[in-house]
Amino acid sequence: MILRIILAALSVACIFVQQVAASNTSLGGGSQDIVTWDKHSIMVRGQRVMFFSGEFHPFRLPAPGLWLDVLQKVKAMGFNGVSFYVNWALLEGKEGDFSAEGVFALEPFFEAAKTAGIYLLARPGPYINAEVSGGGFPGWLARLPTGLRTRNSTYMDATEKYVSSIGTIIAKAQITNGGPVILVQPENEYSSGDPPFPDPVYFRAVEQQYRDAGIVVPFISNDNSPHGFFYDQGPPEWPIYGHDSYPMGFNDDISEWPVDALPTNYGDLHEEMAPNTPYSVIECQGGSWDPWGGYGYNKTAARQGPEYQRVFFKNFYSFGVTIFNVYMGVGGTNWGNMGYPEGYTSYDYGAPITEMRTVERENFSELKLQAMFLQSSPAYATAIPQNNTHANGSYTGNMKIATTALFGNETNFFVLRHADYTETSTEKYHITLPTSKGNITIPQLGGSLSLVGRDSKFHVTDYDVGGINLLYSTAEIFTWRKFGNRRVLVVYGGPGETNELGIQGGGTPHILEGDQHSIKFDQKQGSTILQYTVSDQRIIVELSNGLYVYLLDRFSAYNYWSTDLSSDPVSENYTNTTTFLSTPIIKAGYLIRDMKATDNTLHLMGDFNSTTEIEIIGAESDIKSLIVNNAPTEFQQDSHGVVKATVVFKGPDFSLPDLSKTGWKVLDALPEIQKDYDDSRWTKASLSNSNNTERNLSTPMSLYASDYGFHSGYLIYRTSFTSNGGESLHLETQGGSAYGHSIWLNEIFVGSFSGDITAYSWNQTFNLPAENGETYTITILIDQMGYEENGSAGSSDMKTPRGILNYSLSGFNQSDLSWKITGNLGGESFRDRTRGPLNEGGLFAERQGYHLPGAPISSWKDSKLGPMEGLSGPGVAFYATTFKLDIPTGYDIPISLSFANSTDTTSSIRCQVYVNGYQFGKWIHNIGPQDIFPVPEGIWDYHGENYLAVSLWALEKGGGKVENLNLVAGPVIQSSYPRPIEMSPISQWHKRDGAY
Ligand SMILES: *[C@@H]1O[C@H](CO)[C@@H](O)[C@H](O)[C@H]1NC(C)=O
Ligand SMILES: *[C@@H]1O[C@H](CO)[C@@H](O)[C@H](O)[C@H]1NC(C)=O
Repeated sequence: MILRIILAALSVACIFVQQVAASNTSLGGGSQDIVTWDKHSIMVRGQRVMFFSGEFHPFRLPAPGLWLDVLQKVKAMGFNGVSFYVNWALLEGKEGDFSAEGVFALEPFFEAAKTAGIYLLARPGPYINAEVSGGGFPGWLARLPTGLRTRNSTYMDATEKYVSSIGTIIAKAQITNGGPVILVQPENEYSSGDPPFPDPVYFRAVEQQYRDAGIVVPFISNDNSPHGFFYDQGPPEWPIYGHDSYPMGFNDDISEWPVDALPTNYGDLHEEMAPNTPYSVIECQGGSWDPWGGYGYNKTAARQGPEYQRVFFKNFYSFGVTIFNVYMGVGGTNWGNMGYPEGYTSYDYGAPITEMRTVERENFSELKLQAMFLQSSPAYATAIPQNNTHANGSYTGNMKIATTALFGNETNFFVLRHADYTETSTEKYHITLPTSKGNITIPQLGGSLSLVGRDSKFHVTDYDVGGINLLYSTAEIFTWRKFGNRRVLVVYGGPGETNELGIQGGGTPHILEGDQHSIKFDQKQGSTILQYTVSDQRIIVELSNGLYVYLLDRFSAYNYWSTDLSSDPVSENYTNTTTFLSTPIIKAGYLIRDMKATDNTLHLMGDFNSTTEIEIIGAESDIKSLIVNNAPTEFQQDSHGVVKATVVFKGPDFSLPDLSKTGWKVLDALPEIQKDYDDSRWTKASLSNSNNTERNLSTPMSLYASDYGFHSGYLIYRTSFTSNGGESLHLETQGGSAYGHSIWLNEIFVGSFSGDITAYSWNQTFNLPAENGETYTITILIDQMGYEENGSAGSSDMKTPRGILNYSLSGFNQSDLSWKITGNLGGESFRDRTRGPLNEGGLFAERQGYHLPGAPISSWKDSKLGPMEGLSGPGVAFYATTFKLDIPTGYDIPISLSFANSTDTTSSIRCQVYVNGYQFGKWIHNIGPQDIFPVPEGIWDYHGENYLAVSLWALEKGGGKVENLNLVAGPVIQSSYPRPIEMSPISQWHKRDGAY
C-alpha cells in the first residue's frame, strides 16, 4: 500500500511521512521490549550488551555443516555477535521466483547461532555491496528502466518479493520468537547518490517493507562514513545510527601506514549527530578485499594486523563504542561466479578467522584480548568518553602521547597511543591518573612506563575485580573471575615493558610462580603496589585478600581462553556478565570452544595443533575427572584448585590423491567453432531496444548479455557472413576488470585479449583471413567477471553491460550481421536449483551440466595428466577426474586445490574449477594472485568419491597448460568439532533437456 502512495506525486510523499510518524512506535524500538537501547548501549531483557561482532557471510561458505564451527570460533574470540548479509542475487535469480533452500537456507544458520550463543545483526539489503556481483542485485535488475535504490515504484516493486520473503524468514528468527536475531539493518551504505538523495521517503519505505514482513526488533543503519544522514530526530522514530570505517583504505602500499587516517574526531561527531543512540560502528575494517593482480590476503592480514587493531580499534573504544562489527570476522569464498569484477575467488579478507576457518592469525589472538577485556568490564558500557581535542600530552605531560579518557561511575578508562599514531619508536612516560585515593603519578616504584611504536593501551583506575578494587593498572587486563572467595586477574603487556598495579587491601603478596627479581612491591594508598617487567616467564602473585594476579606477556596471553558464554538459563540471554565472570579461565593452545562442569567432572572441548599443557584456573576444588574431547584425561589439581593436564596431539595418518595419477578425461569444450555446429537453439539477439539506463546501444540489436538473461560466467556470441575477401573486424567487448576474450573465424583462431586489471572493456581490430565467396562464422568467447556494484543510490552502475558493446565488419552495415548469444543454459531459468543461479556460465560443458558429478565422462578421450597436459594451441578443454578421499575423523584438515605458480606468467590461461559441481575457483594465470583455492569439507566428500572438473581456456597461439595441479592439506588440527560434517547437497548430472 505504502508503495502506491509513494508512486503518486511529491505532495503525497508528505502524507506518507505523516503516516509513518503516526505509526512510529513500530518503527523505532519496534513493538517489543526485549531489545531496547539508550545512549550507551543496547540492552537485552534489561541486561546491557556490548555487541562485539564479526561479519560472516553464510552464502560464502556453502557448507551449512560448518556454520556452527565458525560461530563457535567467533564466540571463542570473546565476541557475542555476528553480522551477516544476505545475497539477493542468489535467492531470486528469476524475477518472482524466490527460493532459499539447501545451502541457501538460513534456518540452519539461525540454529547454529543459537547453539553457539551468538546474537545476530541481519543485513538483508536488498542492496548489500559486499564485493558481490551487482552488490547483491540479481542480473534482471539491469533491465529495470529506472535508477536503482530510489523510491521509484519500478524499483521498489522489484524488491518487494525478495524483501517480504527474506523479511519473513528473518522475522521468525527474531529474539521475540526465541531466535538469535536482535537487530536488523535495512538497506546498506545509503550514503551517496543522485537527487533526491538523501531521500528519507525512500529510506522509510525500505524500513516499512521489513516492518510489514514482521520485523519488530530495532533497526540500525550503516552510513558508509559518519555523515549523520537522517538522525537529527533521535529515537524512537529513527533507528540506531551506525556508520562504517575503513581507515587503512584498500590496496595501498602494503608496507606503509597511511598518514592522517586515524579518525580521532568520530567521538565528537557522534555526539553531534546521534547522541541519543549507542555509538555504533557497523563495519570496522578487519582486513581488506584484494583485487585481481593484488597482494594476496596474507599481506592484507599483516597490514591490518595486531598493531593496526590495537591503535585503530582502541581509538574506537575510547569513544565508548558498544556496537562494534569487524568486517570481515570470518573469511569466505566467492564461489560460483558470485564475486564482483574487482575481486577474485577468495574472499579471505585477511580476517581473524581465515577462509580455511583456521584461527592461527595473530589478528584473531589480539582481537580476543580486546574483546575479552571489554566483555569483562561492565563499567565500560556506560563510561562517558571525554572530549579528546587536547589529548596530546594530557595526563602524561608528554606531547608525543595522546590519552583519551572514559569516565564511569567509579571506574575510569584511559586509552593511550602515540600522538603520531604511525610512530615506530618507543616513548617513555609517567602518567598522573585521578583515582579514588587522589591523583597518583605512575609508576610509583621508580622507572618509567613505555609505549612501543604503533601501540595503544588501556590503563584503568578503580576497576572492580569482583569486589576487590584495582586502584590502577598500566598492564592491560585480559579478564578476571570470581570463584567463591578467590579472584583471579589476568593481565598482560608487551615484552620488556614495565607495568604497575595498585590493589586495594592486597596485603602481603606471595609469589607463587616466577622470578622474584623481576617484581617489586610496596604499600601505598592502602594498596599493594606491584611493579614488574614483562617477560615470557609468567608471574603469579597471591595477595592476602584472595586475589591471584597472573602477569603475562602478550604472546602468552594469546593462549588463555574463557568459555561458557552460552545461554543463561534464567534470562535466556547469551551474555550474562555475572555467570561469565565466574566460569574458569583456561590456558591451552590453538582453540578452546567450550567447557562444562557437572558432578565434579570437567568436560573440555578444544582444538589442538600440537601436544599442549593445559591449565584450568577456577575449577571446583574437588574435581574427580577431566574429559577432553570426550576422552578421559589424566590430571592433577594443585592446592589453589588449578587443574593441570597434557593433551597429546597425534598426527593423523592420511594421504591425498596425486592428481597426476588419478587419470583424467577430456572434452573439446569449444565445439561452437566447428563448421557444422548447430546453434539453432541459441538465443537470437533480437532486441532493438534496451532498457539499460547505463549505456545507449551502439548496435542495431542489443548485444548486452543482461538483456537476454545471462548473468554469470562465460558468454559466447556467434554471427555469420559471406566474405568479399579479407574483411577487417572491429570489436569492442566489456567484461570487467581482468576479463578476456578470444575470437575465431570458423575454426581459425583470430586473436585474443588476455586481460588487464585496469581494462574493463577492450577495442580490437582484426584482419580476418576470409576468402571471397566463402561463408564464415565468427565465434567470440568472453569471460565476464560479474556485475559492478551500485554504491551510488539512484545510479545504474550495476547495469554496466557485459558482452559486445560495438562491432563493425568492413564492407558491411552493422545491420547486415545478426547475432546469437549464449550464457548459462536457461539464463534466468537456470537449471541447477541446488547450486543456484550463478554457479554456471556459458561454456558448452557447463550448458550440458558436465561439471556435475555423474556426467557421462566415460565416453570422453583419456588424458593422462588432464589440465597438466593442456592445449598446444588456443581453445578450450574440459577435464574431469574422480577420486576417493579418506580423511580420518577427529581432525579438521582443510583441503585446497593448488595451481603451481609457474615462472611463465606470460602464458595466458584461464581455468575454472568445479568440486562436486560447485564452481570453487577462477584462476587467471597471467593476472593472479590466487593460486591456492580452499574448498570446504562438505563440498568435498571426505569419506567417499569426489568429482573434480577443470575448464582450461588457452588464449594464445602457443596454447598452455597448468604446470602442476595438486591437492594440498591446510594446517592439521585435532578438532573437537563433531565429524563427519554433514554433506552439502550434491545433486547429480542428468541429461539436460534442450541443452545445446
Ligand atoms: C520511475 O521511473 C520511470 C522510468 O524512469 C519514470 O518513467 C517514472 O516517472 C518514475 N516514477 C516516479 C514516481 O518517479
Ligand atoms: C598464508 O599463510 C599461511 C600461514 O603461514 C600459509 O599456510 C598459506 O599458504 C599462505 N597463503 C598464501 C596464499 O601464501
